[in-house]
Amino acid sequence: MIDDRIIVRRAGPADVDAVVTLAEAASTAAHWPRTAYDAYGMALPQEDSIPAKALFIACMCAWPGQIAEIVGFIALSALLTTDSAQIASECELENMVVAEPWRRQGVGQRLVAAGLLWCGAQLGSVLRLEVRASNVAAIALYELGGFAVAGRRPAYYSQPVEDAVLLQKALHTSPGKA
Ligand SMILES: CC(C)(COP(=O)(O)OP(=O)(O)OC[C@H]1O[C@@H](n2cnc3c(N)ncnc32)[C@H](O)[C@@H]1OP(=O)(O)O)[C@@H](O)C(=O)NCCC(=O)NCCS
Repeated sequence: MIDDRIIVRRAGPADVDAVVTLAEAASTAAHWPRTAYDAYGMALPQEDSIPAKALFIACMCAWPGQIAEIVGFIALSALLTTDSAQIASECELENMVVAEPWRRQGVGQRLVAAGLLWCGAQLGSVLRLEVRASNVAAIALYELGGFAVAGRRPAYYSQPVEDAVLLQKALHTSPGKA
């Protein structure tokens, strides 16, 4: 059962160092330069970002409003797609980490749930991601969240070379039809 001191919220500029540290500590996560996080609403107003991007963090709060530790994050993007019949977006789960001492306590599920809500608000029609084929923990988490295998990219990753498994989840599209 999840620790009720864990809250999930949008990240701000003051959280980026902790997010970078978490990512660097996880060999199976994407490792981005610190500046890459500027696109996640850190430097530009969210409305100006194309694609829209969001970074959520899970925080352990010793008491309300007091962040003791950032224990996980999820990074997402949404690219608007329009045709004559529909306005929607295709969303991507770009990166996600939970700190090792906090794993298997439901934090990952909470972060995915926050990400799905954000994708819904972006009129997301689908949420996609790529994951190393050997990443049993992440694949199990995503399948539990309703993602299904949609394909495989041979030798997609390097160091070590490995296939990527493509997972996707269809999202409810709100009736933003033309
Ligand atoms: C993948 C990751 C984010 C999961 O976070 P988490 O907080 O441990 O996930 P949860 O506790 O919410 O797990 C939910 C369910 O996912 C599955 N799961 C999670 N970790 C698992 C593992 N190591 N082995 C098997 N199943 C696992 C289980 O079904 C679990 O439910 P249960 O604990 O009741 O059995 C975490 O392991 C991590 O940060 N890994 C390193 C970074 C990474 O690989 N990121 C993904 C990049 S695509």
